[in-house]
Amino acid sequence: MAHLVVNSGQRMEVPLSQAIATRTPMTVDAATKRFRQGDSFVEAIKDVSLSIEDGEFVAIMGASGSGKSTLLHVMAGLTRPEGGRVVVDGTDLAALSDARLTYFRRRKIGLVFQAFNLIPTLTAEENITLPLLIEGRDDLAGQRLDPLLDRLGLTARRRHRPDALSGGEQQRVAIARSLIADPALVLADEPTGSLDSVSGQNICRLLRELSDEQRRTIVVVTHEPSVAIWAERMVVMKDGRILTDFPTTDFKDAQALAIHYQDVVNPVPC
Ligand SMILES: Nc1ncnc2c1ncn2[C@@H]1O[C@H](COP(=O)(O)OP(=O)(O)O)[C@@H](O)[C@H]1O
Ligand SMILES: [Mg+2]
Repeated sequence: MAHLVVNSGQRMEVPLSQAIATRTPMTVDAATKRFRQGDSFVEAIKDVSLSIEDGEFVAIMGASGSGKSTLLHVMAGLTRPEGGRVVVDGTDLAALSDARLTYFRRRKIGLVFQAFNLIPTLTAEENITLPLLIEGRDDLAGQRLDPLLDRLGLTARRRHRPDALSGGEQQRVAIARSLIADPALVLADEPTGSLDSVSGQNICRLLRELSDEQRRTIVVVTHEPSVAIWAERMVVMKDGRILTDFPTTDFKDAQALAIHYQDVVNPVPC
């Protein structure tokens, strides 16, 4: 029996066994991470478990300091947890050396940050293709670049450097860069945090479209209900722990989601 997988805008038949094997791009199991702050330690995430299914669009929401970025860094293998396990696309990250982890991350995980993190001396297209060029995969970069520029509306801006692009365009370049290696999942940390509200909503719409059209697996960290409402599922964090996890489809708009979020993080004592 075959299972239909939609990826990179292309539909292809793959054996069901393979589809099942790749169904969970990310599992975090009982992860804990502490940081030293002066004489004491702060537990940034505590016993956090989370699974992201293939093709899901998930928002992780919580107040500043709740551990969202730490969790995202642990999921990306940018930070190694002290306890627990992180499995990405079937590979336990703890089993990889730092060098192999860097290589693995470049292939499997697309990263998008609040500050875009583009290289200022490179053009938009050079920034986008860099993850493949570093590995000498120039042919693949050549094949994928034009369709990606086209899909993200960047064709006319391809030879511009970041300082000649608007914030929204820079973030679209960063999203294109996150997709060029066709990763198992895309992780975005406050991707609209440096943008005005219109540009921010446009970035959310783009992520939603990539999720719908290409079944991209996307995790967005945010503290804004107006961003989280674009996802299908919302995970709420407080003080380093996951409080709850629910479908956003239960809420008609960002305001309704915000009210529920407040009820969850600050329950009124009865
Ligand atoms: N590199 C670090 N060194 C020390 N403390 C850190 C470090 N990174 C995060 N923390 C602490 O961990 C907690 C969670 O931080 P963070 O994951 O950045 O939260 P969020 O992204 O939700 O704002 C905070 O108390 C923060 O001060
Ligand atoms: Mg953060």
